[in-house]
Amino acid sequence: MHSAIQSLISCPWKSQILCFDTLDSTNNEAKRIAAQGAPAGTILIADRQTQGRGRLGRSFLSLPDMGVYLSVILRPDCPPAALMHLTCAVAAAMCGVLENAVGIRPGIKWINDLVLDGKKLAGILTELSINPRSGNVDYAVVGIGVNCNERTEDFPPELQDKATSLSAASSRQINRTAIAAAMIDGLWQLNEVLFSQRSEIMAAYRKDCVTIGKEIAVISPSQTRRGFALDVEDDGALLVEFSDGTREQVSSGEVSVRGVYGYV
Ligand code: BTN
Repeated sequence: MHSAIQSLISCPWKSQILCFDTLDSTNNEAKRIAAQGAPAGTILIADRQTQGRGRLGRSFLSLPDMGVYLSVILRPDCPPAALMHLTCAVAAAMCGVLENAVGIRPGIKWINDLVLDGKKLAGILTELSINPRSGNVDYAVVGIGVNCNERTEDFPPELQDKATSLSAASSRQINRTAIAAAMIDGLWQLNEVLFSQRSEIMAAYRKDCVTIGKEIAVISPSQTRRGFALDVEDDGALLVEFSDGTREQVSSGEVSVRGVYGYV
């Protein structure tokens, strides 16, 4: 994988790629080595994860040799509030990357899922470490998992109507190395404009976000509320009008969102 992927990458991060057969989670390993000083732009890729993780403590099914499981370490010297759009920015960038690579553009289910045909194709997990002295970000780890060659029957029965893959959607075998390489180039390009083009990036996110304009259920540990998704703010918050007519900016920290008429 290692030299094959390097030859497909054009950005400077090509010399900072770590490939693994098995990890618990590429995000876990990224955090371990970031804490020991690994530089910005370090990329970790695993063929399998034994404890792939998603948002809100969920697991991310990582079938061996089927998907791309990748994390990148970033070190922007900024307060955490300046990175509120990071997950959205990565989601929008990955829509473009996957469209270029496979010819199918996914949508985005707020805030961090890429979807195709109403099913989950990919997920993004962003984790920050804050320097206690400065209060600024020490490092950010962005992890992306993309289902590539799974057939419907490879997913456990409870996920078969909720998960899809690039192969299932395009009816062809997917070259995971080429997808990973395109993702890395896309992440590098995004990192170059992450702060200077925030509003353009968020405009792109809104275009791909399939949650906007839908009736949704907003699910928090204490309650589920129905509402209508009006918009996504520049900081990534979802503007929701609830059934009682009140409007709220819902932040992704505590809640998940489901479509009222299906997963999306
Ligand atoms: C989600 O579904 O909420 C996000 C899923 C993120 C999965 C990726 S796979 C690579 C990286 N390592 C992990 O453990 N999670 C992310």
